[in-house]
Amino acid sequence: MKNIILIGFMGSGKTSTGKYVAQKLNRPILSSDEMIVQKEGQPIAQVFEKSGETYFRQIEKNVVKELATKSNVVIDCGGGVILDPENIVTLKKNGIIIYLITSPEFIYQRVKNRRHRPLLNVPDPQSKIRELLEQRQSLYESSADLTINTDGKTPQQVGEELLKIFHD
Ligand code: S3P
Repeated sequence: MKNIILIGFMGSGKTSTGKYVAQKLNRPILSSDEMIVQKEGQPIAQVFEKSGETYFRQIEKNVVKELATKSNVVIDCGGGVILDPENIVTLKKNGIIIYLITSPEFIYQRVKNRRHRPLLNVPDPQSKIRELLEQRQSLYESSADLTINTDGKTPQQVGEELLKIFHD
């Protein structure tokens, strides 16, 4: 069975939706961010701070290669996984990519009280969200086999939509 791979911007609900879907399908859930934390022995924010984004992206790429060797799992990818087209080629070999699309307003509401995302720990996170979304939107779209809009929905609702698509 092909992997179910969730992509989308920070705060699009990949982690909670992934957990919901994995539980319903009785599959393991794997997270690229969590694997990076385990490998590096420190939180993502510290990896960025100490070693920089380029280093983080290299580790992320290695982790993606490892994840793509699995089958029948749900994979929760970090929001920047689409920045390297090779990651998408690797993931597509054994998976269906689902893009959880979210508008900047909803993203901001979901991330504003969290501090663990280094790219959004800036004086004006709302502008940063818009800027990054503008750079990435077309990459998310071209990487996806399927897209689900998450605005105003709970992870359970998004998860149910996803499961319905799979059952149809
Ligand atoms: C990032 C998203 C984060 C994490 C890192 C960089 C990004 O993951 O990988 O902070 O570039 O969008 P989430 O999307 O799970 O927050």
